[in-house]
Amino acid sequence: MRIGFFDSGVGGITVLYEALKQLPQEDYIYYADTDHVPYGTKSKEDVLRYALEAVEFMAAEGIKALVVACNTATSIAINTLRQRYDFPILGMEPAVKPAVEKCCSKRILVMATPLTLKEEKYQNLVTRLDHDHLVDGLALPELVTYAEEFQFDPDEIKTYLRSRLNGYDLDQYGTVVLGCTHFPYFKGILKQLFPEGTNIIDGSAGTICYLKTVLGQRNLLSSSGQGNILFYSSGRREPLNSRYTHYLDYLHHSKI
Ligand code: DGL
Repeated sequence: MRIGFFDSGVGGITVLYEALKQLPQEDYIYYADTDHVPYGTKSKEDVLRYALEAVEFMAAEGIKALVVACNTATSIAINTLRQRYDFPILGMEPAVKPAVEKCCSKRILVMATPLTLKEEKYQNLVTRLDHDHLVDGLALPELVTYAEEFQFDPDEIKTYLRSRLNGYDLDQYGTVVLGCTHFPYFKGILKQLFPEGTNIIDGSAGTICYLKTVLGQRNLLSSSGQGNILFYSSGRREPLNSRYTHYLDYLHHSKI
């Protein structure tokens, strides 16, 4: 059986890309909820409904595990999903823990969607870990739109980011946490904007490492898969050479 990956759009491909590296002998279903993207500026009720619909579809197709490759959907729907299904369900959350553990006394900037930053799950995470009050949050919903449009022009993205970072003293940040799976596409550009030595981290590698452990514990690891991926846009099957493969190629070429 395949491993399911779900996101509002193309963000989860950054997590799937990591899975293809760490678990090449698996096959995958990737579901992008393109009818409803973006999630990060919608209401909690809508996002819950969309996520439940998407996972119902994937469960009916048959998956042995699910990665909710979306921080926003994780914060809203992960508990309900785990109550509904028996297969292992892994979510994404902004990598605040590794950032706090690693980061000396410099500040931490968490970039995510407005809904993720507003939600209780994130607020609790920060309250639990940020004893020295070093964590700041910054909502960047337009980066989701840029990624959906395959708009990776460095000049345009830099202009947008500079305007959003206006007023922030970038020198005081030791770590930038990419708390939205659409954001790793912009890692190279962010690196150019922040001072040298700033850590820019996301949760993909850790999540996939954990997925490997969970599959192993349940004897669900495959040795016969070939990294084959079935892509769906809100329940509609995409042809083999769909636009999604361009995103995998982009990640591959930008060596993120
Ligand atoms: N990729 C998503 C996340 O990790 C959601 C982006 C969106 O749809 O707004 O939060």
